[in-house]
This record gives sequence, structure tokens and C-alpha cells, in this order.
Amino acid sequence: MTILVVHGPNLNLLGEREPDVYGTLTLTQLNALIIAHGRARGCEVSTYQSNHEGNLLDALQGARHYAQGVVINPGAYGHTSYALRDCIAAIRIPVVEVHLSDVEAREPFRRISTIADVCIGKISGLGPQSYCEGIDLLLTPEA
Ligand code: DQA
Repeated sequence: MTILVVHGPNLNLLGEREPDVYGTLTLTQLNALIIAHGRARGCEVSTYQSNHEGNLLDALQGARHYAQGVVINPGAYGHTSYALRDCIAAIRIPVVEVHLSDVEAREPFRRISTIADVCIGKISGLGPQSYCEGIDLLLTPEA
């Protein structure tokens, strides 16, 4: 099984961006942890990050040719983007929404998710573990 992990805008700045909220791991370190977790579960993980909405759509559309599941941290696009929502609905492979921080416990706008209804689950507030649990959810038999 191949899983694509997608990171949205500003996640390239992990490690230096608001470390009190998002932690001190860099994106490279986070990806290494996610890939190792996937390998331990017997699946191949590829990772992708972009600050550009259209690039995220292209990566998701491309995933339908090789991936059996997607874990996405949409960043702020998850609060605003109907294009992202429609793309996830279109690709017809299971997608899990994840966030490093607890979006329910922060500013009200972060409680809005445009993509939750087309994802099989939403995991937030666990730091890097949110991604690992996203992978585990994709690997559960009913996913
Ligand atoms: C985030 C939460 C979003 O509200 C924010 O815009 C991000 C990161 C998280 O991982 O906690 O960019 O998705």
C-alpha cells in the first residue's frame, strides 16, 4: 500500500514557525518520522508540501494513479478552500485530515473545516502523532 502525505501552506516553516504551537521538529524531521511509521506498518509513504493551492490539487489528483490513501494537513486551506474539498471528493480514495495543533481549542475560524465531510476522519492536537494516527486510520480494514 502506498500513502501520500500532503502538507499545506506554511508547514515548510516547521521548526521555526510558532514552535510553542507547532513544536520544534522541522518538516524534514517530521517526514522522516512519518515515513518510518509507515514502514513499520508495512506501507510506503511519499510526502509532498506546497504553499500553493493549485499545486496541492495537482498532487491530490495525481495520487489517484498510485496511492491507496492520503493523509493531509491542509493548513489554513482546510478552513477556507472549497476547491480542496471538491478535489478530495473527486479522487475517490480515502483521505484523513490531520492537524498538529488542537484546532478546536484555538480561534473560532480554525473550528471550520471545508474538507471534513469528504474525509474519513479528522485527527488534531497530537503533534506529529496526528499524522501517524492518520496512517493507522487508513490501514484499518474498514477505511
Ligand atoms: C494547522 C492548523 C491550521 O489552523 C493552521 O492554519 C496551520 C497548521 C496544524 O497543523 O495545526 O497552518 O493545520
